[in-house]
Amino acid sequence: MAPCSRILGLAAATLLALVASSGHAYKEKPSVFSFTTIAVGYQLGGPNLAPQIRVDPRDAPGVLRAAKDLASDFGRVLGVNGTVVVADWSATITEKAVAKPVILIGTIGQSSLVDNLVSTKKLDTAEIAGKWETFTYRVVSTPWEGRDAVFVIAGSDSRGATFGIYDVAERIGVSPWHYWADVVPAKRQNIWANNLTHIEGPPSVKFRGIFLNDEAPALTGWGKANFKASQYGSSFGSEFYSHIFDLVVRLKGNYVWPAMWSSMFYLDDAKNGPLATEYGIFMGTSHHEPMARADKEQSRFLKGSWDWKSNKAGVQAFMQEGATRSKNWSTIYTLGMRGSGDAASATLSSSALEEIIAWQQQTLTKTLGKPLSDIPQAWVMYKEVPGYWKKGMNVSQDVTLLWSDDNRGNIRRIPIGDEEKRRGGSGMYYHFDYVGDPRNYKWINTIQLQKTWEQMTLAHDSGNKNIWIVNVGDLKALELPTAHFMALAWDRNSFDTPDSTRGWLQAWSAKQFGEDAAEAAASIMTVYGKLTARNKYEDLSMTPFAFQTSNYDEAELNYKEWVDLLDQAQSVYDKLPVAIQDSFFELVLHPVLAGKTVFEIYTKVALASRYATEKRISTNQLAKDVQAAFTADQVITKRFHSLKGGKWNHFMDQTHLGYNNWQEPSSNTIPRPTTITAASGNALMGVTVQGSTSAFPATTKLTSLTVSKFDPPGLKRYFDIFARADGSFAYEVTSNSSFLDVVSRQGTATSPGSNSDLRVFIKPDWASTPAGLSTAALTITNLNSTGQVATVIVTVENPSVPADFEGHIEADRTVSIEAEHFSADSSKDYVVIPDYGRTLSGVRLPPRTPSQQPAKGPALVYPFYTFTNAADASVTVYLGPSENANPDSPNRFSITLDGGSPTTVQVVPLTDGSSQPAGWSDAVIRGAYVKTSKVGKLAPGKHELKLFLLEPTMIVTKIVVDVGGVKSSLLGPPESFIMA
Ligand SMILES: *[C@@H]1O[C@H](CO)[C@@H](O)[C@H](O)[C@H]1NC(C)=O
Ligand SMILES: *[C@@H]1O[C@H](CO)[C@@H](O)[C@H](O)[C@H]1NC(C)=O
Ligand SMILES: *[C@@H]1O[C@H](CO)[C@@H](O)[C@H](O)[C@H]1NC(C)=O
Repeated sequence: MAPCSRILGLAAATLLALVASSGHAYKEKPSVFSFTTIAVGYQLGGPNLAPQIRVDPRDAPGVLRAAKDLASDFGRVLGVNGTVVVADWSATITEKAVAKPVILIGTIGQSSLVDNLVSTKKLDTAEIAGKWETFTYRVVSTPWEGRDAVFVIAGSDSRGATFGIYDVAERIGVSPWHYWADVVPAKRQNIWANNLTHIEGPPSVKFRGIFLNDEAPALTGWGKANFKASQYGSSFGSEFYSHIFDLVVRLKGNYVWPAMWSSMFYLDDAKNGPLATEYGIFMGTSHHEPMARADKEQSRFLKGSWDWKSNKAGVQAFMQEGATRSKNWSTIYTLGMRGSGDAASATLSSSALEEIIAWQQQTLTKTLGKPLSDIPQAWVMYKEVPGYWKKGMNVSQDVTLLWSDDNRGNIRRIPIGDEEKRRGGSGMYYHFDYVGDPRNYKWINTIQLQKTWEQMTLAHDSGNKNIWIVNVGDLKALELPTAHFMALAWDRNSFDTPDSTRGWLQAWSAKQFGEDAAEAAASIMTVYGKLTARNKYEDLSMTPFAFQTSNYDEAELNYKEWVDLLDQAQSVYDKLPVAIQDSFFELVLHPVLAGKTVFEIYTKVALASRYATEKRISTNQLAKDVQAAFTADQVITKRFHSLKGGKWNHFMDQTHLGYNNWQEPSSNTIPRPTTITAASGNALMGVTVQGSTSAFPATTKLTSLTVSKFDPPGLKRYFDIFARADGSFAYEVTSNSSFLDVVSRQGTATSPGSNSDLRVFIKPDWASTPAGLSTAALTITNLNSTGQVATVIVTVENPSVPADFEGHIEADRTVSIEAEHFSADSSKDYVVIPDYGRTLSGVRLPPRTPSQQPAKGPALVYPFYTFTNAADASVTVYLGPSENANPDSPNRFSITLDGGSPTTVQVVPLTDGSSQPAGWSDAVIRGAYVKTSKVGKLAPGKHELKLFLLEPTMIVTKIVVDVGGVKSSLLGPPESFIMA
């Protein structure tokens, strides 16, 4: 296709809009099920008809359990439960006369049902046999004499069979979130299977799971209210874990790190350990809890101190007990050692760690009676631990190096050198929730799915495939990022293209809320991800990172996006069937409503302080709004807690307002908004211009921002006329020039009320505006009070640009470029990730692209046009907060201007592997690295900026050329006008 515009990104964006209705490229395997009668198919359910489900008694306990779940899942959909018959092949084939549909389930090699169908060549399992966690299901015709057909679900191993069963459950309509998010299956009259074979697996990541962490107050308070406490005080016993395990296996996961703040998984309930194995789940323990023993066991059972150097015997006895206790259960053993609690040890060295791991492995081999290569083990490269590894260590290849992110979703390391060849491979410990510096984030979801996609595909494609575990905090409120992470870990290939995230989100939304709401829900949660990528709620009290109340209308526009988003979410909610509203509230409306309310508080506090200096009487209304939003926040919490008769009480107990250090505040508090004493008098007029806090009457002659023919499309120039006291006045605007006008020359401001502040947009008549720069004046007269006359001086810029120029055009001595709007001359090696980051999207090189030489490799080309003769121009590049995931090749980029010599910038400093790089905290709060380079003189005219990313571990979002006008802001100036 020949793009009509040379600005490739633009053409791509248009194209995307055109294909949006046909869905983004998420390649989920099509369903074999249908809810209407199909000609060539097999009926599994109908009115008052549910299947008989048969399993071999010798099959794995997890498969038997899942078969029972499937029977009741059919009931959830059909209104009549399936039945389960536990019987072998010979009993099965004698029951010729079963009138019901029959489903046979089994594990290859463990189920006589499956094995006999294979040996009689009725079922072909060649494609799955011997593979890890792989399954197939299909209709089998004449499985034995006297029976027309059965539906068969076969697993390559017991978890494969289990995942096959839950895959069927999900596709007939039972969401993995049926319990945790109250997702209600659509009721069906009929369920049919077509004649196609469905195969999934092996999974992209061998071990995949979640870590329940930072679990107080929400999950812990809820647990106490709902489950009996153990003798040690924890409520996280087998009843609780059966809900967790049900979710994890339905998400096709196989790994869990249990809650550990005040719990001891294996001791709180003796049934916990065997229950996990029964579900087919491998249990682990977190990064500082080696050998399957909880941190909290140390204080009770460890003899002596948690110190290898001074108390080796005590520590060994303690660890030995962990191995002995868990030896009959599925376990991934956490190896290594850290200090007490989640802290570095003062006495450990690299050589001590070598000794510890060697001893642990020896102990496991002896205790479990298995070769090391058959024992899953992980050594968590968290916080300071990579520092030991970096010094060079001799550690058995069998242990998975479980790398981690920086607690804010930026992976610290991909496998490098020979690490990829290790038998144990690599893993990733990732965070959707965190307690610690620079701020906790543990209230509600602040995760951008596109960033998860970008970081985790980087990890996977770089060879990190053995274990993925994600810290999901209290779990509830993080359903969406959890579902996405698990889907990615199960089948990375269906997320091939960068727009697959949106496609997955739409498919996921359809499964939770129905097709009708799917597109809107996906769009709402995509914008939600962008808005939270700009600021986590907990970070909002850090004023150095606040949205600007004056420059670029930044605070106001950001808040407006929240208001619009809430309007959309509320209107979808209002139209949904009542049965679906609760799950939609929990998964979509609540985060949007609660998030908007928090942003309302911080935005209006900031605006009130600006309005006070301008003496707007509406300052006091803002203060009232802030108080009302604070009350609304409490009402929203109560609403959440009263859902489903109080089912989720305590889940919103987390404080989230008024952070003043990394740790959560003990109660929610808000800053006191500024108020003013009204000026005395009636009909008092004030005026202020966009981008300035000078105001009439203190200043009688105000200077507007330059109005350019090439202003950013979303940022029209204006001034505000406002009341300085309660009352009403009419105004009139006159112009001293034929080419300058305003949109509304007359109006009335009234306070109190929504008309206390009026926005008047400046409207030049470009046809009659002289070329170049011209100045004119607008006079604003208060018609109800003599002597109140303000003047706004306006410079109008009507520059000319060659007709054949294509690219970005300067206005306000600024050129701002969204990274995806590169020209067609750019290298095709770059990949645009739609919806990534804080503004439009991100651009990166594909994973495994080799490191590039400065200004030599693939280039992004940006033509732009300036009018200012700049003596001291600079270029600012906005990048995602990605770390140096390959420390041998730190994140760097080069820029060249007009073919000149390159400037090369290292984005993130190197470290010794044990700590975060300098500048890290600012970058994660902002959600961006921002790097400015001086480029010297820049004459007016046509220019070409080339940007070279030198590493695949980084992502660019925005580029700003400053020819003297760029003002401070969080997101950077809005994108310039594009001539295409
Ligand atoms: C269907 O199964 C579920 C779960 O086992 C059970 O709660 C429900 O009572 C059953 N329904 C009928 C009609 O037997
Ligand atoms: C499935 O049924 C369709 C429709 O009758 C038929 O065209 C197709 O060949 C069948 N496929 C298989 C694999 O049996
Ligand atoms: C303000 O002036 C306008 C125009 O002269 C007039 O119509 C209006 O009645 C006046 N309002 C007050 C409150 O005096």
